[in-house]
Amino acid sequence: MKVRTDFVLKDIGQLLTMGGSDTDSAGIALLEDAALAVSDGRVVWVGSCEALEVNCALPDSTEIVSAGGNVVTPGFVDSHTHPLFGATRQDEFAMRAAGADYEEIASAGGGILNSVRKTRSASDDTLRENMLHHLSIMLSNGTTTVEVKSGYGLDLTTELRCLEIAGKAAGEVPQTIVPTFMGAHEVPEEFKDRSDEYIDYLINKVNPEIREQGIAEFVDIFCEKGVFTAEQATRYLAASSEQGFSLKIHADEFYDTGGAAVAVRAGAASADHLLSISDENIELIADSNTVATLLPGTALFLKKPFPPGRKLLDAGATVALATDFNPGSCFCDSMPLIVSLAVCQCGFSVEEALFSATASGAAALRLERRKGKLLPGFDADFVIWNCRDFRTIPYHLGNPDIAVVYCAGRKVYST
Ligand code: NIG
Ligand code: FE
Repeated sequence: MKVRTDFVLKDIGQLLTMGGSDTDSAGIALLEDAALAVSDGRVVWVGSCEALEVNCALPDSTEIVSAGGNVVTPGFVDSHTHPLFGATRQDEFAMRAAGADYEEIASAGGGILNSVRKTRSASDDTLRENMLHHLSIMLSNGTTTVEVKSGYGLDLTTELRCLEIAGKAAGEVPQTIVPTFMGAHEVPEEFKDRSDEYIDYLINKVNPEIREQGIAEFVDIFCEKGVFTAEQATRYLAASSEQGFSLKIHADEFYDTGGAAVAVRAGAASADHLLSISDENIELIADSNTVATLLPGTALFLKKPFPPGRKLLDAGATVALATDFNPGSCFCDSMPLIVSLAVCQCGFSVEEALFSATASGAAALRLERRKGKLLPGFDADFVIWNCRDFRTIPYHLGNPDIAVVYCAGRKVYST
């Protein structure tokens, strides 16, 4: 029996499905002269253009579009972003350009706490507009699934406000939005020197409210020297898991504090940053179900050493790439730029970087059966590129050759 379709993309010069029976060692599963059929927003068939009519029913009602021999990839899955903030921090950026250090600025009351002050005093409209502005830039860069963290409120009212705004975005933008509660982003001023009490407050007061309202799937914690210790992260993640949340952690960003090991032991979906991960913990994460999420834009922005992508890949870890978009340490909403950085600075092959920015990003959000691949059953989120060789994607540094973006089989952006 032929497959029912309502949309078909044909004349695809190179289709990167990221899986299935054609999977090669890099995982991209490249099909040439390919076609892709969609029904009800999901992929129902992929194969060669020649085999299209034999396999798919093509009634007059089916919309047929030609990709003109160009490259098609899954949309990017940006599994780590912080777009809910009251104001940008270009002043701190300029201070760093003049020689100040990110951690110095933070310990003088700037950094995350600066954003907290501005977020608490911002109106819902300002928060919403800032977020929507950047989600739309992300879309124009081919990102079709975005994780959105709260974490610049650090009190019950503002965190709830931010997560409600993130939840509403799901109906306002074409992308799939995955909200994460990051009340454990920093110790707020009112809990200064009482970080254990703040963790208690999150566990006993804020988490249960968020759980009850069902407005975040994940929790996240910043495990770092001067922020939360590995013990505090372990305690917070264990309690959150018991409350029914899935887990993420900002780990080993500036110092190796054992955050990656905390993530593995807690059964976290991902451990993110890992600029300073130890060789021992590279092995540990590689043998686990925790995804190692690398954010090379942050290393670039903060003039830090790039994360050890090659070592993690060679050890066999599942490695995702994401932007870490936020007003302080990485004001970058472009996944194509992140893919270029992974190739140019972190030892990824082009194929590995594209796989990490799509299929592995989906795994970091526990959406590996729905997002990041173009196979039957997956959401029809894809990008038609203005090029005929997929290696052009990271090669064209800083200027993505994007022609059209589709979410759930619907055209949502074109140049
Ligand atoms: O992921 N590392 C912690 N949090 C953010 C930075 C936030 C900020 O500077 O506002 C990050 O890099
Ligand atoms: Fe982050």
